[in-house]
Amino acid sequence: MARRVVFHAAASVKLDPSQFPRDEHGNLKPISLCACGVSQKFPICDGTHKRCKDETPGVLYEYDPVTLERREVGVCDVARADASGGSGA
Ligand code: FES
Repeated sequence: MARRVVFHAAASVKLDPSQFPRDEHGNLKPISLCACGVSQKFPICDGTHKRCKDETPGVLYEYDPVTLERREVGVCDVARADASGGSGA
């Protein structure tokens, strides 16, 4: 399970804690940060990761940033990626 994600931003994304969700007592609720790279609300998880669940190990995918259509773009050598810290593509 691997995917290539292209980032165009050249700056950080600020998270304003005053906008974080709170429970009925005013306590901060947990928020989930996207780790799959395909969230439409990156860096906040929006549940789009569910589209990645049936990815085949060893295959490298790309997702269209607008339609989220998935396509295979190669193989992912996990052992090589783990050793180099990269995707292995
Ligand atoms: S982890 Fe990326 S959308 Fe949820």
